[in-house]
Amino acid sequence: MDFGLENRLSRIFNPRSGRTVMLAVDHGYFQGPTTGLRDMKNIIPLIPQADCLFVTRGTMRNSIDPRTNTAFCLRVSGGPSILGELSNEDIITSMEEAIRLNASGVGMSIFVGAKNEDRTISNLGRLVNEAQRYGMPVLAITAVGREMGRDTRYIGLACRIAAEIGAQFVKTYYCDDFHKVVEGCPVPIVIAGGKKLPEMEALQMTENAIRAGARGVDMGRNIFQSDSPAGMIKAVRAIVHKGATAAEAFDMYQKGRKQAAEAADARMEKV
Ligand code: 5RP
Repeated sequence: MDFGLENRLSRIFNPRSGRTVMLAVDHGYFQGPTTGLRDMKNIIPLIPQADCLFVTRGTMRNSIDPRTNTAFCLRVSGGPSILGELSNEDIITSMEEAIRLNASGVGMSIFVGAKNEDRTISNLGRLVNEAQRYGMPVLAITAVGREMGRDTRYIGLACRIAAEIGAQFVKTYYCDDFHKVVEGCPVPIVIAGGKKLPEMEALQMTENAIRAGARGVDMGRNIFQSDSPAGMIKAVRAIVHKGATAAEAFDMYQKGRKQAAEAADARMEKV
């Protein structure tokens, strides 16, 4: 057994459920001040509800209390901004930095079917080689190029490649017949949320993904851009860890939203 690797993975995947709710807040690394993340203070109340954050080193250094108990997985790829060629990423954060920050994992994107496909896949190989020396789990993110379809053929191809190159877990997008993607990928898969959806749709997608065999989410915009981020992350947790249905989780989200509105009203009355 590789103790360090297993120990770090157990900080990401809850040992009781075997699943994870990762909160993705790394968007600024290529998008700049993304809606919902303009002020990173907004995510502080959500952190205790996440099993793991997916973050850049800049966010860890500047915005997160070092006494936090929540694990984090560090995005280590980057380079282009939203204005450039997105697939032109390299590894920009060292393993030494990940260890120094006490990361429980490192993550990078691969761009299957895009311009720099080959370089991003060999970068993943190099990252896995280095991470292996320190027992550091690697998350491969299958970024979907603008021209790529989101179907089992394409997503399945990208996830399988990521696992074959050695990633310990994979983040990808949900698609119809997702169980086929899971079947073809020998390591755990977590789903990204993608663009903001109405809350019920995002919760239904989460339920569908979990039922199809996903081991959790690494969700960003559908949580931090919700009108009740706290209600939404609790609702996602209920599906991922407790097997709640989307309808049950939606009730929780609505309660969270109501409580937040009442608390805001109470604050206004005091002023
Ligand atoms: C950006 C990422 C994000 O972490 C990922 O897309 C998850 O966030 P969202 O749920 O907002 O899609 O990897 O490249």
